[in-house]
Amino acid sequence: MRTQVGIVGAGPAGLFLGHLLHLEGIDSVIVENCTREHVIERVRAGVLEQSTVDLMHQIGVGERLRREGLRHGGIYLCFGGQRRRIDFEDLTGGRSITVYGQNEVIKDLIAARCSTCRPLYFEADDVSISGFDSAEPRIRFRDAGGMREVACDFIAGCDGFHGICRPAIPPACLRMYERIYPFGWLGILAQAAPSSEELVYSLHENGFALFSMRSPAVTRLYLQCSPDEDLAAWTDERIWDELLERLEAADGWRPNRGAVLQKGVTGMRSFVAEPMRHGSLFLAGDAAHIVPPTGAKGLNLAVADVHRLSRALARHYRSGDTDLLDRYSDACLRRVWRAQRFSWWMTSMLHRSPDGNEFDFRRQLAELDYVTSSRAAMTSLAENYAGLPFD
Ligand code: FAD
Ligand code: DHB
Repeated sequence: MRTQVGIVGAGPAGLFLGHLLHLEGIDSVIVENCTREHVIERVRAGVLEQSTVDLMHQIGVGERLRREGLRHGGIYLCFGGQRRRIDFEDLTGGRSITVYGQNEVIKDLIAARCSTCRPLYFEADDVSISGFDSAEPRIRFRDAGGMREVACDFIAGCDGFHGICRPAIPPACLRMYERIYPFGWLGILAQAAPSSEELVYSLHENGFALFSMRSPAVTRLYLQCSPDEDLAAWTDERIWDELLERLEAADGWRPNRGAVLQKGVTGMRSFVAEPMRHGSLFLAGDAAHIVPPTGAKGLNLAVADVHRLSRALARHYRSGDTDLLDRYSDACLRRVWRAQRFSWWMTSMLHRSPDGNEFDFRRQLAELDYVTSSRAAMTSLAENYAGLPFD
């Protein structure tokens, strides 16, 4: 097989890239090692920045998002029993966020890909890449038909944090920066109508909790836990009791209880690999960087990367000009580090660290008080959360 851009991974980065390239008339092959069902059903992100929403509309995959996405003009921060709202629209000149599950985004993008008839392989085994520092980049994999080889001009490593593309770069050519947090999130999906129209991030003596949603009938909630928390020790009853204790506000607001549909634990890390390019291999999304989820940035950063990569490749194929490709890594990393700073800050402000003490807790409460009462501080949070325009 021969293509222009070989894409490893059919998560948000790979699927957005495939569609953006298609619209530029550029051919691609997408190779994914999981099943289609697994890729769709993985419960992950839920918050889309304004720029991600705008892009989905521009590229013609926003029809269901327009109908089913829940547009939010702000969020609540809850501490000391009080819920205080940060009004993004007012503070950022009208920017907002939209709650629309990552699995819905993935479904829409797979449907768009299938309608183009360009190749998308699921369940590819033994995926490997080679030749990206020579003139012959190749992706190899095995499927039901046997071994396959895709010869390409460029490879896009969109295969997430645990993928094979980043490790294929010689270690001496990469610099990695990392922070692992001493806590994780226990997340549930619940069959319960959301009792607030907007998200509630809470810092409680017992730790962090987050109230979010997926639809008018389904609530999504998270609790700070230890990174290796044993899910078996958490009955649904215990999860609800702890969520209600951490989220209940003095004005009587609390989440509605309901049947638990799904639960899981995720660890939290900040990670950046630099540069995001090696020869004709370009890393994008979680393959190059991870943020802790408190700032809701991971999916949005992946989209910002591939938006930039698609424009750089389009320029190259139109005019032979490699300037945007040469600037890809530096330009992406500027946004990545801003999002790293914001995600680290939100995480530190809202979680109780096992090595912190009462002084730290009181300092965090004072910071939340400041962030919800100073217009300057609220504006800083709002513009980072709602997200900067892509350029
Ligand atoms: P991935 O989604 O990881 O996709 C990579 C793809 O590559 C996968 O399909 C994988 O199966 C495939 N792959 C891996 N290895 C191979 C291989 N060897 N060969 C072929 N294919 C391979 N982000 C937000 O913006 N907002 C949020 O609210 C938010 N909440 C989150 C909540 C949770 C609980 C979690 C876990 C994450 C959250 N994120 C959030 C982060 C977000 O989900 C990720 O940043 C996003 O999925 C990154 O997309 P990606 O395409 O770069 O990587
Ligand atoms: C959700 C996830 C996040 O990481 C976040 O910061 C807000 C909401 C969610 O899954 O709905």
